[in-house]
Amino acid sequence: MQENISKYISEIQNFSTDNLEQLELFRIKFLSKKGILSNLFEDFKNVPIDQKRETGKILNEFKIILENKYSTLRNQIDISSSVSNEYDLTLPGTSHNFGSRHPISLVKTEICDIFSNLGFSISEGPEIEDDWHNFSALNFPVEHPARDMQDTFFFETNPDILLRTHTSSVQIRTMEKNQPPFRIIMPGRVFRNEAISARAHCIFHQIEGLYIDKKVSFADLKQTLLFFAKEMFGEETKIRLRPSFFPFTEPSAEMDVTCKICKGSGCNVCKYTGWLEVLGCGMVHPNVLLNCKIDPDIYSGYAFGMGIERIAMLKYQVKDLRMYFENDLKFLSQF
Ligand code: DAH
Repeated sequence: MQENISKYISEIQNFSTDNLEQLELFRIKFLSKKGILSNLFEDFKNVPIDQKRETGKILNEFKIILENKYSTLRNQIDISSSVSNEYDLTLPGTSHNFGSRHPISLVKTEICDIFSNLGFSISEGPEIEDDWHNFSALNFPVEHPARDMQDTFFFETNPDILLRTHTSSVQIRTMEKNQPPFRIIMPGRVFRNEAISARAHCIFHQIEGLYIDKKVSFADLKQTLLFFAKEMFGEETKIRLRPSFFPFTEPSAEMDVTCKICKGSGCNVCKYTGWLEVLGCGMVHPNVLLNCKIDPDIYSGYAFGMGIERIAMLKYQVKDLRMYFENDLKFLSQF
């Protein structure tokens, strides 16, 4: 009997098939009711007592080998038949399109990173504002024509409530709630009642900067902005400050950077001036500090504000503002 078993074992070990019918014949031969395995168990009854232990062990091992072989082949056939029925492995795979960051987010992050390296931290405020934070506290007197500089969306039900026209409102909110010194950068969406065109939009993004401490001077402002311009537009960039007017700063200025395209020699991007306007800035007006209960005899500081779309236009040379709002994937996937 033991000899028979070893013959069967080598037969089983040599057996292989990927055909269900052949496997069924194998099963019938070895595992069916009248098959070899049950015959062997039948014969086992007649094995002399003194051999029973050893033969029983061999018989059990044989049973395990046989059953393992059968179930392994069965699984292989199942897997290959399900794979070949449902999938064509020769087809090219389905590729996934990864999204990309919006160009405005990219530029915003880049600007925030530059100022973070100088120790500025980020502060945010609400898009729905009141007159005080958007205008009055920023030294826009009531009925003053400076309010007309920014066409405002007022709430019909309450003209004291409006959509903020600039991120300067966040300066006030931060200064009201905290104690100086301040070194903050304030990104956000702003709203103006303008007809949408390639050069104007009713929603856009700004970044405001504010630095308040003892003995802050205009030279600090200039040096900070020069550092920013070089980081953003390249080491060779130069800046110039032109006198300007904003109610919340005195003195006020607008900053230009040398045109990156023509390197200052004049082209149609810079309208042949060699310079591109980038932001507004100035020393924070003492009235603004007083409105936030900060003593202007002890503290001074500077502020600046820039449009993110403006910087993105200069960086990417995409001059139609509407592109940044249409969410056209053909445009967005280029960044
Ligand atoms: N808030 C101004 C605007 O929207 C931009 C600005 C100019 C912000 C000068 C400032 C500043 O902080 O000092 O046009």
